[in-house]
This record gives sequence, structure tokens and C-alpha cells, in this order.
Amino acid sequence: MKILGIESSCDETAASVVEDGNRVLSNVVNSQIDIHAAYGGVIPEIAARSHIEVVLPVINQALKDAGCTLDQSQPNKIDAIAVTHTPGLVGSLLVGTLTARTMVVINNVPFYPTHHLKSHIYANWLTGYNPTFPILALVVSGGHTQIIYMERHDDFHIIGSTRDDAIGEVFDKVAKILGLLYPGGPNIAKKALNGDPDKYQLPIPKVDGLDFSFSGLKTAVLRAIQKELGLPITTPSYELKEKLTEQQICDFAASFQKTAVKILVQKLQKACSMYPEAKSILLAGGVSANLALREGLTKAFEKSHEVYFPDLKFATDNGAMVASAAYYSIQAGEKASDPYSLDISPRSVIK
Ligand code: KG4
Ligand code: ZN
Repeated sequence: MKILGIESSCDETAASVVEDGNRVLSNVVNSQIDIHAAYGGVIPEIAARSHIEVVLPVINQALKDAGCTLDQSQPNKIDAIAVTHTPGLVGSLLVGTLTARTMVVINNVPFYPTHHLKSHIYANWLTGYNPTFPILALVVSGGHTQIIYMERHDDFHIIGSTRDDAIGEVFDKVAKILGLLYPGGPNIAKKALNGDPDKYQLPIPKVDGLDFSFSGLKTAVLRAIQKELGLPITTPSYELKEKLTEQQICDFAASFQKTAVKILVQKLQKACSMYPEAKSILLAGGVSANLALREGLTKAFEKSHEVYFPDLKFATDNGAMVASAAYYSIQAGEKASDPYSLDISPRSVIK
């Protein structure tokens, strides 16, 4: 079964054709990173406009690369269209879903709206893994920090969420204070290689249950930098970067990254104690590219669980993970949706 997956929930316009859940026939990603870099983060209005400009060429390229067509009378037809409909930026989601709906209506193709976090998790199946259920998945990206429990395919419970910033967002904001370019995650990771992770002690937030809170960590880094430079807390964050030495930048990056990894590992350990039947730990989302996080999770869980990390090319937003998630939902019995009644939801909604 060949599925066209379309993704436009944030700042990547992406489309891909995947056969039977893990055979990637094409994977086209148009990233807006260069456009948003000047602002140090994603500007929703600009993101939506950029999606409009490229969504059709991206989809057409994905169909061409895969040698497929939407024409249902042809032998090389697409069997279904899947699109991200929640969660994400309103304008961004609208572009992908309206495009998909129109294609579905014109070509009479079965239609599967897909949850973005579920798609991130399926990047692990695209990588070629077949994890044992039940699964505890840690989804960490620019917009999300969630722990998700899955007993089987298409069974999906969010058991922990961030109450404020997402972890990727905090990497990006701390990077901005340190004068590192957007997206900040990879740049923090690079600087951290030359830094002392124990140089600055940053607090672990106390949050009940399996929820996260990262806004305090971001403020703690800001205060630690101001203190290190002997400046009052009223000093604007944008004035700090030029006062920091290269070594201080590396030490702050390493100390922040170590604390972020510690928070994520500790919550996942708590989740494991609450869900002792879980057999596998999965990492997903853009921040899953972080090697320190991969090391931290391996160290903490390799003796007790199967531990999986997605191939880096499927870690950040792409259409292949959307197609893969839809395929396994279809296998689990999900019925096609009515394109006319589809709604988007910026906040996470489980169908
Ligand atoms: O999943 P993604 O592409 O988009 C969202 O759904 O948000 O994730 C993007 C996020 C950005 O915040 C970026 O800084 C972060 O992933 N990221 C990293 C690394 N590579 C990307 N964070 C930490 N370390 C990395 N190596
Ligand atoms: Zn994402």
C-alpha cells in the first residue's frame, strides 16, 4: 500500500510516498530554517506564507520521485493520502490540510488525517525498527515535549506534557542568549563538546507527575549568565552574548544540555516506574538528534528496556513519518475520514 504523507505543521513543507509503512519511495523536505534564522525563531505568519508557495511543488516532486500518480485509474496510483492535522501552527496546518483535502476530493483517494506526535514516533519504524509493545515514547521537538504510552499500533495516550516551553524551544532560546544561530539545538550541542557540563549548576524543576516545565530552566540560564558577568538581573538578554568569552559560551551550553538531558531522563524513569509493563523506550522529534540525550537514555535504560532512536534524516519534520503513522493506523483498523468534515487543531487532539 502506497501512502502520500504531507507535513506542514511548523516550518517544514514536506511530502513523501511510503510503501507498507517503512519503504520510503520519495522524501522531499523544504525547510524554512534560512527564512526564520534572521528572527531567531519561527514566525507563524511567514511560515504559513512560505508553505503556500512551495506545497504544490513539494508534493509533485514527491510523487514524481516515487513514480506515482494521484490518478486512481492508473496502476502506479497512490492508495491513500495522509496529512498532519494536529497539533501545530494554525496557518501552517491549514495549508497542508486544505491542499490534501482538495487532492482527496478531486481524485477520490482515501484520506487519513494524522497526529504529528504519532508521526514523529513512527520515524522509528521508518528507520527499520520493530519495537516491542508496550512502548514509552519521548517526543522532543521545537513545539512539543511529551511522554506517550502505546500498548499497540494506533493506541496512543499522552501521559506527560510540558506545561510551558517545549524542550527544543528552550534549546533555541538559550542558544539565542548565547549568540548562537537558529535552530539553536545543534549549535548548543556543538559548543557543548568543548564545554564543562559541571561548571554551572542549574536547577531541576519540581513538577508533579509526568509533566515537564522548562521556562524556569531558561530563566536560570539567563540569571547564571548575568551573575557570571557580574551584571544586574535587569540587563537585557540580547546584551549578554558579546560579553561572553568563547569558553563561557561552551561551558553554559554544556551545563544547560546536561541539565536538560537529566530532566528528560528522570521523567522517563518515573514513567517506567508507573508503567512497569513497558518493554521499549523510543525517542522521537527534532531534539532526538541530540547525542548527549541519546547517550543519557542508553545509559539509563539499556539494561531494562529495548531503546530506539530514529535515523537522523527522519528525526526532524518530514512527510514519510506521516505516511508511516497512517499505514499502521490503517492496519489497526482505522477508517478513512471524510475530507469535508476535517478540522485542524493547533493543540494536541487525539481522534
Ligand atoms: O521536530 P522538529 O523538526 O520540529 C518540530 O516539530 O518542532 O524539531 C525542531 C527542534 C528545534 O528546536 C531544534 O533546535 C531541535 O529540534 N534540534 C536539536 C538538535 N537538532 C535539532 N536540539 C538539540 N540537539 C540537537 N542536535
Ligand atoms: Zn515535529
